[in-house]
Amino acid sequence: MATQPTEAVNLSKKIILGALLDCTADPAKLGEKAVRFEQDGAMVIENGKIIARGTREQIENTFSVVTDIEDYSGKFIIPGMIDTHVHYPQTEMIAAYGEQLLTWLIEHAFPTEKKFADKAYAKSVAEVFLTELVRNGTTTALVFGTVHSESVDAFFEVAQQKQLRMIAGKVMMDRNCPDDLQDTPETGYADSKALIEKWHGKDRLQYAVTPRFAPTSSPEQLKQCAALLKEYPSVYMHTHTSENVNECQWVKELYPDSLDYVGVYEDFELLRKRSVLAHGIHLNERELNCLHKTETSVAHCPTSNLFIGSGLFNIQQFRDKNIAVGMGTDVGAGTSFSMLQTFSEAYKVQQLQKNNLTAFEGLFLNTLGGARALDLEGTIGQLEVNCEADFVVLDDAATPFLRFRMQAAKNLHEKLFTLMMLGDDRTIYKTFANGRAIHTRDQ
Ligand code: GUN
Ligand code: ZN
Repeated sequence: MATQPTEAVNLSKKIILGALLDCTADPAKLGEKAVRFEQDGAMVIENGKIIARGTREQIENTFSVVTDIEDYSGKFIIPGMIDTHVHYPQTEMIAAYGEQLLTWLIEHAFPTEKKFADKAYAKSVAEVFLTELVRNGTTTALVFGTVHSESVDAFFEVAQQKQLRMIAGKVMMDRNCPDDLQDTPETGYADSKALIEKWHGKDRLQYAVTPRFAPTSSPEQLKQCAALLKEYPSVYMHTHTSENVNECQWVKELYPDSLDYVGVYEDFELLRKRSVLAHGIHLNERELNCLHKTETSVAHCPTSNLFIGSGLFNIQQFRDKNIAVGMGTDVGAGTSFSMLQTFSEAYKVQQLQKNNLTAFEGLFLNTLGGARALDLEGTIGQLEVNCEADFVVLDDAATPFLRFRMQAAKNLHEKLFTLMMLGDDRTIYKTFANGRAIHTRDQ
């Protein structure tokens, strides 16, 4: 990089003061040692990246000429949170009453998704969706579009304008859904390829090949998905698996030659690093071994699993096999955009199975764990030098009651746990992406 006059370089730098809190490893393995906390901390950001971090004193001494200082002393600063599975077109039908997965898709999801043939409409929903994400402190997500290429163009245009790191893809589905929501193996391939060429790697945007789930893709279409992954090894593969018992039974009937549900994706060579499967509630030992062997990640979506009655995800099964797990909101089957609320439900789901999740594990799942699940460690998910400057300032006195409750919290773990159980969009004081403030709660 060409050197610039010192003054110009300094002018573009900014110091952020606050109580820096992030993970350097998985607290499920290392406990508190995996957590880094700098009560009087400071970060220096420049050109969208964190270029230094430390105590306030260290940073102020080293960067004494930098005058652009934002002071959040006394507030927690955590990495921008990562939603590893969500459907932006379902924003408008979140909280639809009374169904389980397969009827919910027919009654609520498919009719809504038809509207996304209209790009202007898609863009208006993308705007609402991304505004909601950043209001909730989420700065990266792995996102389903609809079958229409227009839905992905609209989404990426809005994400690009907000300078967000986002991964998305056009849904591929060529059977078992309404005719006007179907592509074909050939058009699904061609349209996805065109979108990859147009968007993958542009600014902070990446593409995910997105077969909806095994029931809505023919074997021919899954072959085309594999062809795309071979041609473009750095794209993601994003789909659903083993969410609902009726769905699992249906997959057995549709793919009788595969050993099990995960086996379908395995047989069509869709599993590798950067493959992310949502749910994984009803998996057998063989399927878990297969996910481990192929380095496939899983997105756990507790509010969705409870809302449409899918079942209880057992995180221990994945830990035992060293399978990367991220958290997903799965809006619109999920009921909240908030990753704090999502972790709160994850905690309860594990409680029902006699597993304990600590607040530190929650912080990990929502940040570095999500980054690992998306193969983005070193880029996002930490307040680390060279990481992108995506971070969130939390307000632990966001409401009078939260202020009251927090006074009784005795230590860091209790504070963070209370914040994660009771927190929501009001707790997100400010969200930064690419080094810029993109949401300020009180404005
Ligand atoms: N499985 C296939 N499609 C969907 C969807 O849109 N939402 C959920 N939760 N599961 C699915
Ligand atoms: Zn989903």
